[in-house]
Amino acid sequence: MALPSRPATPGRRCSGRCARTPGELIHGAVPPGATILELGSGPGRVTRQLLALGHPVTAVDDSPAMIGQLPADAEPILADARRLSLGRRFDVVLLASHLVNGAAGDGPAFLRVTREHVLPAGAVVAEVYPPGLDWGAAVGRPRPAGEVTVTVTRAAVTDGRLDAEVRYEVDGRTWRQPFAAERLSEEDVLSVLAAEGFRFERWLARERGWLLARPR
Ligand SMILES: C[S@@+](CC[C@H](N)C(=O)[O-])C[C@H]1O[C@@H](n2cnc3c(N)ncnc32)[C@H](O)[C@@H]1O
Repeated sequence: MALPSRPATPGRRCSGRCARTPGELIHGAVPPGATILELGSGPGRVTRQLLALGHPVTAVDDSPAMIGQLPADAEPILADARRLSLGRRFDVVLLASHLVNGAAGDGPAFLRVTREHVLPAGAVVAEVYPPGLDWGAAVGRPRPAGEVTVTVTRAAVTDGRLDAEVRYEVDGRTWRQPFAAERLSEEDVLSVLAAEGFRFERWLARERGWLLARPR
């Protein structure tokens, strides 16, 4: 589930202060032209942004429908990203969409694969649910995210596990997506990273949960 963020790219319509797109955020944090392995790419929303900014992208998803929608200039790989073994390494491994918060305890598996595919001087860029986010306060407050309006319709945290639902609205159409996630404090995030061989370096956008870490 993508957390809402305000629309961004210069030249695009947005009211008030514009946030950067995920692609712009990642591009600004890594070397120009850095090769990127994107785990859980979906249909290529971020992939397209990164390609347009000059990054070769290898995009992995376990859904044939998603892989089928990737742009032609991405390298598509249909696979379970928790078990990926490509035998090559990349400047950057991208773990968007809160995979680290995987409700089934999958976060460490994604990070293990990330560690196996990142160059020694490379980086992981990951998106986690912002530690400290007040889910209760987010309920019922519609937030625009580009052309989509996203509303958290319910959220309950029990024993560190979040059970929630979001409603998406586009052009008068709406649909709902229930999801579950592990609620990680900042300390939890740092220790999950450390356990899989990464050194937390910095938040790229703390309120949106984007971070950069390096292999140790
Ligand atoms: C919510 S979508 C987001 C896609 C993209 N990261 C974005 O931000 O637009 C999450 C994607 O992760 C994929 N995914 C989830 N678990 C996966 C796994 N174990 N291996 C590969 N892909 C996975 C899903 O198929 C889905 O396309």
